[in-house]
Amino acid sequence: MREQLLAAEKVKAIAWRDGALHLLDQRLLPAEEVWLSYDSAEGVAQAIRQMVVRGAPAIGISAAYGVVLGARARIAAGGDWRAALEEDFKALADSRPTAVNLFWALNRMRERLGRVRDGETPLQALEAEAISIHESDREANLTMAQLGMELIRKHQGSPQALLTHCNTGALATGGFGTALGVIRAAYLDGLVERVYADETRPWLQGARLTAWELANEGVPVSLNADAAAAHLMKTAGITWVIVGADRITANGDVANKIGTYQLAVNAMHHGVRFMVVAPSSTIDMALESGDDIPIEERDGSELLDLGGRRVAAEVHAVNPVFDVTPADLIDAIVTEKGVVERPDAAKMAQLMCRKRLH
Ligand code: MRU
Repeated sequence: MREQLLAAEKVKAIAWRDGALHLLDQRLLPAEEVWLSYDSAEGVAQAIRQMVVRGAPAIGISAAYGVVLGARARIAAGGDWRAALEEDFKALADSRPTAVNLFWALNRMRERLGRVRDGETPLQALEAEAISIHESDREANLTMAQLGMELIRKHQGSPQALLTHCNTGALATGGFGTALGVIRAAYLDGLVERVYADETRPWLQGARLTAWELANEGVPVSLNADAAAAHLMKTAGITWVIVGADRITANGDVANKIGTYQLAVNAMHHGVRFMVVAPSSTIDMALESGDDIPIEERDGSELLDLGGRRVAAEVHAVNPVFDVTPADLIDAIVTEKGVVERPDAAKMAQLMCRKRLH
């Protein structure tokens, strides 16, 4: 499956080249494919805030490269560059609050700065760490694709319909995707007749990004309004809802794109299985439950306006962009360390003691 996925790879959204970070501008897809280049930590923080790059692992990877860019400028400026670099760490950490991959990646960069090896400069150490974060995310996705596909195969023999939410593909990660990686692998294995992609209001990650990624690869995909999901679970032969995650807490609760929680409730009601696919960098064992996760609220204009034009009445709009799905609505959490079925605190603790499977 690894070779098949590598051969089918079409989309990349993050590139580290010529000492700069290059990001495919996800605000413009699928209408335009525009790459933007960044040479400062503040620029990368702004790209994350403005959603040029989005998706939990992709945010973490970009922030890691942001630290490299920050360090380069601080070292060139001389003086106490390590103290000055703290400002860059802070700007990057303040860019978005919910996806823990961001803080995980910044912690790894900080730790690596404390472990510069003989014969390497601090800048070389940071660059090597950022590249390693990027590459190991791609590897984790290949492992999870295989594990998730095997889980689907275990429960069904013939091709079925799957439903997904938001965008968890190559655009949201270092490559291949988390939930979308599993869906790709299941399709290549002949297990998927059709994928239903929730449009994912208000930012339309499903309509603009997931539908684009799947259509590019010839995977049969139908776009549906978010509100159609329960109806489709009842009528369209959907066997699994498969989603990603922005933060998973020690008890197995999962924060993901707004609308995920109602999908899990509906899946339970209709006897549809619910799978979460996320690398261990998304697991935050420091938080006991989903109640502790900071939920990002974005500007109400994302709901009030459409294409820059006001469409709603003159009212206040509430725009939480993530929600928390309780662990007891989840059939399986798939990570690169293994699969946890019916997650709870004990199983999550056991998982985190394991090594990566690749
Ligand atoms: O606001 P976004 O687009 O960054 O939200 C992304 C999601 O919620 C994804 O489902 C999640 O990050 C997993 S991506 C592999």
